[in-house]
Amino acid sequence: MAKTHVTMKVNGAEVEGLVEPRTLLVHFIRENLGMTGTHIGCETTHCGACTVDIDGMSVKSCTMFAVQAQGSDITTVEGMANADGTLSALQEGFRMMHGLQCGFCTPGMIVRAHRLLKENPAPSEQEIRMGISGNICRCTGYQNIVKAIQYASAKISGVEFREAAE
Ligand code: FES
Ligand code: FES
Repeated sequence: MAKTHVTMKVNGAEVEGLVEPRTLLVHFIRENLGMTGTHIGCETTHCGACTVDIDGMSVKSCTMFAVQAQGSDITTVEGMANADGTLSALQEGFRMMHGLQCGFCTPGMIVRAHRLLKENPAPSEQEIRMGISGNICRCTGYQNIVKAIQYASAKISGVEFREAAE
C-alpha cells in the first residue's frame, strides 16, 4: 500500500515518518516513534488509555489516523515532566495520592488531567469526575485519581492540599 510522508511535533521535537493511510496515530506514536508510554486498551475510543494532547485538546489517539495528525503539535505522557526532568505536579499527585495500581490507565489519565487543569485550574470534585469520564480505570475506583488531580490543582495554585474528610 502506498505510504504517505507525515510530519508533526511530538513533545517539542519535529518528527516524521512514512505511514499507510490506515495507520492509527497511536500505532505511529508507539511503533514508528518508539514512545510506548501511550497505551492501547480497547482501540475503539472507549477506554482513554491512548489519550494524547493534540493542539490543546485531549484526543484518543486510536480514534485518529496518523495522516490526520499532519502538522499537529502533540504531547504524550513522555512530555508531561517539568522541563528540568522533575515530576510535574500531576505526576507527583499520582505518586503521593496512590492514583494508580496496575498503571495501565495512568498515561491517559495524566494527559487528560493535564488538559483539564489547563482549562480549569481549580476544578470541583464533580468537575474532575466529569473531566476524566472518558478514561476508564479498572483498578482504583477513581477515588485516588481524583485526589491526585486535587493535589496537583492545589500545588499549581500554590495552596496546601488537604484531603476532604470521607
Ligand atoms: Fe483508544 Fe481505548 S485504546 S480509547
Ligand atoms: Fe489499573 Fe487504572 S490503575 S486500570
